[in-house]
Amino acid sequence: MKTTDVREDIPLLKDVIYLDAASTTPTPRPVVEAMCDYFYNYNANTGRGAYHLTVKATHKLDEARNRIAKFVNSDPNEIIFTKNTTEAINMVAHGLEFKKGDNIITSNMEHHSNLVPWLKLQKQGVEVKIVKADEQGIIDPGAIDKAADENTRLITISHISNSIGSVQPVDEISEVAENKGIFCLVDAAQSAGHTELDLKKLRADFVAFPGHKGFLGPVGTGFLYCANQAQDQMEPLNLGGGTVDNVTEEDFQLAESPTCFEGGTQNIAGFIGLGEAMNYLERIGISKIEKHSKKLTRIMYQEIQDIEKVRVYGSPENIYGIVSFNIDKINPHDLAKILDEVKSICVRSGFHCAMPSIRHMGAYEFGGTVRASVHYYNTQEEIEILGETLKDVSKFLG
Ligand code: ALA
Repeated sequence: MKTTDVREDIPLLKDVIYLDAASTTPTPRPVVEAMCDYFYNYNANTGRGAYHLTVKATHKLDEARNRIAKFVNSDPNEIIFTKNTTEAINMVAHGLEFKKGDNIITSNMEHHSNLVPWLKLQKQGVEVKIVKADEQGIIDPGAIDKAADENTRLITISHISNSIGSVQPVDEISEVAENKGIFCLVDAAQSAGHTELDLKKLRADFVAFPGHKGFLGPVGTGFLYCANQAQDQMEPLNLGGGTVDNVTEEDFQLAESPTCFEGGTQNIAGFIGLGEAMNYLERIGISKIEKHSKKLTRIMYQEIQDIEKVRVYGSPENIYGIVSFNIDKINPHDLAKILDEVKSICVRSGFHCAMPSIRHMGAYEFGGTVRASVHYYNTQEEIEILGETLKDVSKFLG
């Protein structure tokens, strides 16, 4: 599939220049249709009955889980459905047992979702060690290795920073964790669907995924990869219907993963849509997505860097999918609003739910940054329009 084919499947792209994939992506028609098929033709609960509609819904949901597992090269029972990446990370923060004196290593480039849950544990006596990135927003695996000690229980790092797009060496970081027998969590919010993620190669015990960003699935979907070897150390948080094999008045027996982690009725239509999104990505080809988006990122960085009084964050060699910038002292929200009003360009602005990273990159005093982020549906022409519009704004306001 070409970019033009994908654009045909996303009608809203006719009206706007959508450069906010890092926030969420618009949902292509076949994904929406798969969800409509559920709603129109077999809208029943899963795993809870014998009549044909519920059997079909259960089968379709299982099929989606199998599809997702195959896409990331894991076993289906290692895929736990969540509503987003944040919920997947919180599942680990509250599901693993941390005791006073344990420590967790993370970085100052994290989204709040991969920081706040750990800071909460700090209030219970768990130390949170923050490894600082370099001036380009890159984390040194050596620094993580150095910070780890016999009390380190978890190393948790984002694959790609959501604020500036810097790509972290997660292979090396997960190797450090594995060599030291420490749990490793990777936040794949900004890499999933943009680059190949092979969970049999990555040595992480946990990977938190969004369904609604790079995967082109619907909002309200995400999942946690919880490796087989880590499952017996994770307590399910949401107990109740569907999580148990047997219950008496005195006790209960938990079901196996993933069932024990997915209490209550799931977002059935959403995950069926997410399964279809995997088929859709496969039809495009992940290596084609990566090649296209890397090219657009490079052009976007260059276009923006050439603007007067601009400040671009991160280095062009080390960022992917995201370009974060400021022009002079224009407030990022004002600049984003101007881009929208002048050319219907949709970008995110502000602190991007990653305040420590914004402080680290020196953008806090500007009120954060403007962030443009791409996917396969974006075109070079759109990037050039962004560049030209920013040049005009800079001349006019500078
Ligand atoms: N986490 C999403 C972002 O960075 C919402 O924009």
